[in-house]
Amino acid sequence: MLKLAVIIPAAGSGTRMGSRLPKPFIKLGNVPILAHTLSSFLEIPDVVQVIVATSKEWFDEVENIYSSLNAQGVQFAVVEGGSERQFSINNAFSALSEEIELVAVHDAVRPFIKKELIIKCAEEASRVGAAMIGVPAKDTIKKIDENQVVESTPDRRFLWQAQTPQIFKREILEKAYASAIKDGFLGTDDASVVERIGQKVKLVEGDRENLKITYPVDLKIAELILNEEELF
Ligand code: CTP
Ligand code: MG
Repeated sequence: MLKLAVIIPAAGSGTRMGSRLPKPFIKLGNVPILAHTLSSFLEIPDVVQVIVATSKEWFDEVENIYSSLNAQGVQFAVVEGGSERQFSINNAFSALSEEIELVAVHDAVRPFIKKELIIKCAEEASRVGAAMIGVPAKDTIKKIDENQVVESTPDRRFLWQAQTPQIFKREILEKAYASAIKDGFLGTDDASVVERIGQKVKLVEGDRENLKITYPVDLKIAELILNEEELF
């Protein structure tokens, strides 16, 4: 496999969670959510670099979490995040080591990503140039207008929920981000930034445990998943 770096955006303020601590630093089991997330990537031999984007006041905490994981031979950097997720990721590019060929972006707050899925996604990205994890939409999705009146109902068979990781050949991701910044485009995921420049993105079916901890209910579900894992 190609040499892989993982960028972990962890600079959000967690408005929807409404917690005192930013989400990556909330404890799940005995350790912060970010520790669970980092561990999954550190199990993969092709991961040669990890870059976390966070706010300055959390730099020390991120360093502490990383050292507690005893990663061997992986380069590590913490960079300052930005006001939007996309800017946090863009800031991480400057820390990318020269040898990196593939870049994975993975939310700090998706702690249950499985190693096999990361590998599958990276293999597809090596082949196609860009790949991402997603799951079929379980709810019917409505398109509404500004008065909250339904405009249409897109066929659910063609609707998937985007998750992370989203993995790209380095040059594709850097080119797409440069173009987005030039044009003032702000996407809600990295694939949308890459799709804009005409790049094909392969969707790899993931699993629903790879949830993004967003609302308080997600934290409750996460505790249940964690406790179940510990039973086996
Ligand atoms: N993120 C980031 N920089 C930002 C905003 C978000 O690095 N300016 C990160 C978050 O820390 C999180 C991931 O992107 O790991 C996914 O974002 P989200 O779940 O939306 O987290 P928040 O933005 O913190 O939450 P909210 O939108 O509810 O404020
Ligand atoms: Mg957000």
